[in-house]
Amino acid sequence: MTAQQLDSTGRLRHLLTLEGMPRPVLEGLLDQAQACHDSAIGRTTDRREVLAGTAVCTLFFEPSTRTRSSFTLAAQRLGADVMSFDASTSSAKKGETDTDTLRNLEAMGVRGFVIRHPDDGAVARLAATVKPETCLLNAGDGRSGHPTQGLLDMLTIRQAKGTDFSALKVMIVGDVKHSRVARTDLHALRTLGAGEIRVCGPANLLPDDDTLAGCTVGDDLDAMIEGVDVLMMLRLQHERMSEGLVPSLEAYHARWGLNAERLRRAAPDAIVMHPGPINRGVEVTDEVADGPQSWILRQVANGVAVRMAALQAVLG
Ligand code: NCD
Repeated sequence: MTAQQLDSTGRLRHLLTLEGMPRPVLEGLLDQAQACHDSAIGRTTDRREVLAGTAVCTLFFEPSTRTRSSFTLAAQRLGADVMSFDASTSSAKKGETDTDTLRNLEAMGVRGFVIRHPDDGAVARLAATVKPETCLLNAGDGRSGHPTQGLLDMLTIRQAKGTDFSALKVMIVGDVKHSRVARTDLHALRTLGAGEIRVCGPANLLPDDDTLAGCTVGDDLDAMIEGVDVLMMLRLQHERMSEGLVPSLEAYHARWGLNAERLRRAAPDAIVMHPGPINRGVEVTDEVADGPQSWILRQVANGVAVRMAALQAVLG
């Protein structure tokens, strides 16, 4: 996949994964996102010409709130013509394959596709079928990857803690096993040289493959939170309860939920992050989610800037 997303000169052709992305490419995207900040939040309109005349389609085969709307806004703020395709109201319902849907939109002259898909590796599979001038951006595929979420998380950490991650203690909490966000963040944190990565959650929700190589892993949040600089809380996916993997929301919250008292054990200036959607009172209490150490809404704002940088990198 790494080879597939870079062209022969090392330029980003598609955005498929952060796994194996060279550090200068990753840092270049973060720098570019930081430079897009003012136009991302609508303070300036100086980037409206960047993708003028370029058609971009958000092609979502799974639900989304933040990712889809921020990609749409990002493309609009770069001046692109943006259209949106929703699998639940389209010919996908009539049995059209994803490849045919993509080819049809490509025939209309769409050059950029932002794709979310329930299957692992689906965006890379589709990338192998498109015309040379067509670019795909992965907006989340199965449990594998969510590169723009990883980038916005790294941008948020940079803004809070600076660009040198080597002294940082970062902890990811929750259902890592089923989380494309966690997998993506782990790749990025390693590439950027995070000092220590801790992973905490119920044993049956932690992956048993090499996903956690090099991390400190455990299930005791009260002990592991000691001195942590960055807390990345993951959504507890309700479907895990019906699978019997979590006894109850209350039991989960009691052991792995973040409340103000637990947060006091982390470093005094620790930041709290969450990719959304939040289950309030499960992963984090209202007091923490809305408190002074929460960077959750800044993550959302950074999502627009990062997606502008990513669209510009592949299509500009
Ligand atoms: C995440 C996703 O869909 O992967 N949401 C998001 O994009 N911010 C996380 C989740 O749904 O748990």
